[in-house]
Amino acid sequence: MTNPTGAPAPSAPSAAPSAPTADERPYSPGLEGVIGAESAIGLVDGKNGRLLYRGYRIGELVERGTYAQVADLLWTGEWHPDATLPPAPVPPAVLTALREMPRDSHPMDALRTAVSVWGATQRLAWPPTPEQARALTAFSPSALAAFGRLRQGLEPVEPDTSLGLAGGFLQQLNGAAPDAAAARALDAYFIVGAEHGLNASTFTARVITSTRSDIASAVCGAIGALKGPLHGGAPSEVVNQLHAIGSPERAEAWVREAVGRGERIMGFGHRIYRAYDPRAAALRTVADEMGTNADWLDMAVRVEDVVLRVLADMKPGRVLKTNVEYYAAAVLQGVGLPPDLFPSVFALARHAGWTAHSIEQAGANKLIRPDMRYTGPAERQLPA
Ligand code: COA
Repeated sequence: MTNPTGAPAPSAPSAAPSAPTADERPYSPGLEGVIGAESAIGLVDGKNGRLLYRGYRIGELVERGTYAQVADLLWTGEWHPDATLPPAPVPPAVLTALREMPRDSHPMDALRTAVSVWGATQRLAWPPTPEQARALTAFSPSALAAFGRLRQGLEPVEPDTSLGLAGGFLQQLNGAAPDAAAARALDAYFIVGAEHGLNASTFTARVITSTRSDIASAVCGAIGALKGPLHGGAPSEVVNQLHAIGSPERAEAWVREAVGRGERIMGFGHRIYRAYDPRAAALRTVADEMGTNADWLDMAVRVEDVVLRVLADMKPGRVLKTNVEYYAAAVLQGVGLPPDLFPSVFALARHAGWTAHSIEQAGANKLIRPDMRYTGPAERQLPA
């Protein structure tokens, strides 16, 4: 028997043990179940509904911390209460590139382009450092806000460096000082979105870093991975769903009909969490405390109760709880962001995690280079 390479398949073990070939080792599509890294950054404990950053629970971090402190924790491993992260100005070369982009460009394309040009304006030595991570994480919200204005025919505004990163993003997007509750809510969303294990975009960042490429290249690749709908999530679909439901009174009938047709209710269920998603719990508290858009949030909270009750009734064999997307939608809509910016705002939040993984990867680097099983034709000759 031969495999497609034309080599005979292995038979009886020989006296001298040799490394198994790619045909002998198990293949896991999507690398599911494969341990691809060791990391001290975050723990996603789906069974118990826990998410820890460097050992601290997400709920406590949202309640007592800021994104600046949390990002610093992810980069350094230490809790520095005085950590700050003001928004950084956008270099002229980046603004030139953003001005040249079509106004209807996908905001993720604009963000990825901005990070790429930013990288070209820096001298980013390898290995990546917390200082590089800080500079990049502080730059990106300003760049996305600049694009958000340019696409409306408005001029970008300078960042107010007395603000935190989330508030500074809102100020640069809207051209006005942000509402304090909105800035706090978006900061909480940034904390919740900062890190979530070896997901596709984080893995991408680690792969790029493992080649000794720079941190901006790692984040560009990560943004590209996050742009895909299988990863970037769709809190905007939650917004559309709430619009379709219309009012809490209509929720029960709407949800029963949708589940009866075999449809999914957006913002519920999770592949890993078999308990209430701790990020949703943290954001629900934040959403409850927000003064802005109170009617919309009130409706989201009341519809959630109905959906949980109906899902428990109609899918009794499953644990279907609220996931992060539901309250991400509530917060992002509540602070007045347009739904088409939701994925790119998620990317801003994830900068802390991506760059922390880039630093960690470089610290114990080994080129990431998995093996492949060849399934093409056996060796052959071109036609005469
Ligand atoms: N609404 C209604 N039913 C749901 C559901 C939802 N949101 N999520 C899962 N189910 C049901 C499925 O219909 C299926 O029912 P069945 O066994 O009667 O056929 C059962 O639960 C298992 O579904 P499965 O897709 O195998 O579960 P999963 O854990 O792999 O799915 C998600 C995880 C996230 C893909 C899924 O819950 C989903 O599609 N949710 C809605 C989209 C969403 O909110 N995505 C953001 C995730 S952060």
